[in-house]
Amino acid sequence: MSDDRLIVALDLPNAIDALNLTGKLGEAVSFYKIGLGMLTGGGLALANELKQEHGKRIFLDMKLFDIGATVEAAVRGLVQFDLDFLTVHGDPHVVRAAREGASGHDTRILAVTILTSLDRADLDAGLIRPGDVADLVAERAARAFEAGAHGVIASPQEAAMIRALPEAEGKLIVTPGVRPAGAAMGDQKRVATPGQAIADGADHIVVGRPVWSAADPLSAARAILADLPG
Ligand code: C5P
Repeated sequence: MSDDRLIVALDLPNAIDALNLTGKLGEAVSFYKIGLGMLTGGGLALANELKQEHGKRIFLDMKLFDIGATVEAAVRGLVQFDLDFLTVHGDPHVVRAAREGASGHDTRILAVTILTSLDRADLDAGLIRPGDVADLVAERAARAFEAGAHGVIASPQEAAMIRALPEAEGKLIVTPGVRPAGAAMGDQKRVATPGQAIADGADHIVVGRPVWSAADPLSAARAILADLPG
């Protein structure tokens, strides 16, 4: 049995390249994230194939945000793909609509609190309320949970703080921004190792480049899995 705490992000140009990678990873990896960048490259067909023909778990990272009726309709369509995780922005009306759209399906709705690429200056530019970014993240996570989110996406630095919220009990925390010790950071700034992210309360870690751009992706994935606490 492979360890589904590791989710590999398939940030590749198209479904052919992605299937090639999943073939190399074989049984070692059982959970994949497909994002917006793959949509025009066959992302939904890829999700379907990995799920139905290869038995993989699928995280579709769409970060939906719109009026409630539109989010509900979009989610109702997407859950036909038998997704395991689907992301929406954490605004309560969006989360409620997503839960409505997913009713009758097992898809877990994960909320984005504040994109980890945004700093206080970006929030000021977007007219977001003053205050410490971490406090806003905690408040948005709590509100998303209250609105029915099954979990949140959080940076490893936010995981422990969110795990400590009373509203987070029984909820999922999924963290990107994970780097094995010594790996290139890329554009990630606030990173943790796989083991640290799990120790801080993450249920799943999302890792992209350290696996798919590795000369030997299978060895890279195995090294990450070996770092996870037992
Ligand atoms: O290559 P890397 O490991 O940085 O990929 C991380 C994945 O997680 C990418 O698909 C990226 O879009 C996604 N992600 C992120 N930070 C967030 C939310 C999603 O890096 N806050």
